[in-house]
Amino acid sequence: MCGIVGYIGKRRVVPIILGGLKRLEYRGYDSAGIVFLREGKLEKYRCEGKLHNLDETMEEVRDANCHVGLGHTRWATHGPPSERNAHPHSDCTGNLVVVHNGIIENYHSLRDELQSKGHSFTSETDTEVLAHLIEEYLKGDLVAAIRKALKKVEGSYALGVLWTGQPDMLVAARNQSPLVLGIRESGGCFMASDIPALLPYTRQMIFLDDQELAVLKTDDIKVIGLRSGRSLKKDVQVIEWNAGMAEKAGFKHFMLKEIFEQPQAILNTFRGRLDPETGEIFLPEVGLSNKELKALHRISLVACGTSWHAALVAKYWLEKMTAIPVEVDIASEFRYRHLLLDKSVMVVPISQSGETADTLAGLRLAKKMGSRVISICNVLGSTITRESDGTIYTHAGPEIGVASTKAFTSQLTALLLLTLYIAQARQTLSKKDSTKLCHSIVALPHMLEENLPRFQQDIEPIAEEFQGSRDFLYLGRGCNFPIALEGALKLKEISYIHAEGYAAGEMKHGPIALIDRDMPVLALAPKDGVFEKVISNVEEVKARHGRLILVGEKGNKTLKRITDHVLYLPKINEELNPLLYSIPLQLLAYQIANKRGCDVDQPRNLAKSVTVE
Ligand code: AGP
Repeated sequence: MCGIVGYIGKRRVVPIILGGLKRLEYRGYDSAGIVFLREGKLEKYRCEGKLHNLDETMEEVRDANCHVGLGHTRWATHGPPSERNAHPHSDCTGNLVVVHNGIIENYHSLRDELQSKGHSFTSETDTEVLAHLIEEYLKGDLVAAIRKALKKVEGSYALGVLWTGQPDMLVAARNQSPLVLGIRESGGCFMASDIPALLPYTRQMIFLDDQELAVLKTDDIKVIGLRSGRSLKKDVQVIEWNAGMAEKAGFKHFMLKEIFEQPQAILNTFRGRLDPETGEIFLPEVGLSNKELKALHRISLVACGTSWHAALVAKYWLEKMTAIPVEVDIASEFRYRHLLLDKSVMVVPISQSGETADTLAGLRLAKKMGSRVISICNVLGSTITRESDGTIYTHAGPEIGVASTKAFTSQLTALLLLTLYIAQARQTLSKKDSTKLCHSIVALPHMLEENLPRFQQDIEPIAEEFQGSRDFLYLGRGCNFPIALEGALKLKEISYIHAEGYAAGEMKHGPIALIDRDMPVLALAPKDGVFEKVISNVEEVKARHGRLILVGEKGNKTLKRITDHVLYLPKINEELNPLLYSIPLQLLAYQIANKRGCDVDQPRNLAKSVTVE
């Protein structure tokens, strides 16, 4: 959604905030702004467009000898991207400013009420209401005014506030929108929407929970309950990531770097969780005994976007290897349909960010209905992890590119481990098969490391030929059908080419009408149990002059007889094909988008984490 950074300390504030916003720009980037305190006055700079526009306008003040400020990079929800809608927003006096991530659902009524009291508004945003509401209650005590104001607010917020009347503090508040605080041993305190913004300065972090407020001073952070006003003890967590992990390390884009990091991300995710000799899986975070796992009647997977595709793959694995019925829901549908959940159902929210509003809402519903909630997540301390009964962390490291890649294959790794763990408890998979799969999992990172550069080369001519396409159809069967969906999502979200993923067997029920000489069709054709069926579907495309791209196994001569555009992959245990086959599709999307001059890491209209409905 949006990115917030705040700092108070002894160092120069402008470079810290600009640098922090740069590391958060993937969260939203249609406008940006910074405010800092200089000689008792607030200096505010705001720009439409990318952060570098703001950077340029702040040339003269970059080294200002100032030490407290706030910054914001925006993904517009209310009011178009523009300078006047960019944060920070001020009250009538100009002495109080706020930056905000979230949605104030009752902002219309609050704005009417404030205007009737004489407040004048300069923007179309919901956020500006917060500045005037705090001003309305401000009688010399900023914290008291914020607490009173937020009691009237409905909706989500991560909020940073600075007031010239109490220049020795920043105030942060959180409700249903992520906010992390950082503290440096050598002095200085920070607030940010996400961990990467703070990594160059500190790895000591405090995660605010909903309805909590924090007062940041140069060397101290105090956290209190928004409603109670009572001070709260919060753990300081040490983040294992380092700043370098959030940088590009010589790659042109974060997305390309993260595609090439997948062998390591997969390895880091399964390390310590399996024994390839015995096939044993260790997932104590599931927190259920074998008896309880045997008593499960159903598993419900809930997620959005790419994470939903991971859930779709997991359904094939779980039902095949654990003999438990599995439901998969898009979270925004899950939260509004009539759910039949109870303690006999394990609900698994899957989320890279751990902050996706729809997935979080689904989690809360599941808990209310008595289900055990075990999440799969990539971000330590994120909201979904803190509200789950247990979390199986993926260890992909920070994923900065808006298009998810290494998080996806890490999610698949975690879901396969969960499958094997439950199968082990329910004794529904032979030790031989489990050991064989564990061997294949362990061998995967090295195989990927070896083949990624070749994939990149093999894909280049195909990307070159198809970069001008207007449409694309991706076909897959079985556990590769979700990979067709994922490949299409990757292409559309970064190249803006309309692409659809379809079950190969379903194409003749409608989409085949799309096939002509201009329609590229990519089919996933590993030599698995449905290979012949996929080939019949591919022949149907060929008979209508569709432009075919086939992705299959090295040495499979059938493929070249059908089309010249073949991407050859190594043959591996077919259960792992979803992990392997998604990678060339990531590279294809990346190369086409790059050739089309698209902004690969920050595609238009998107944001890395959708923390609103
Ligand atoms: C993935 O390429 C997309 N950017 C998007 O669909 C993403 O997967 C979705 O928003 C879910 O995010 P989450 O995994 O952080 O919950």
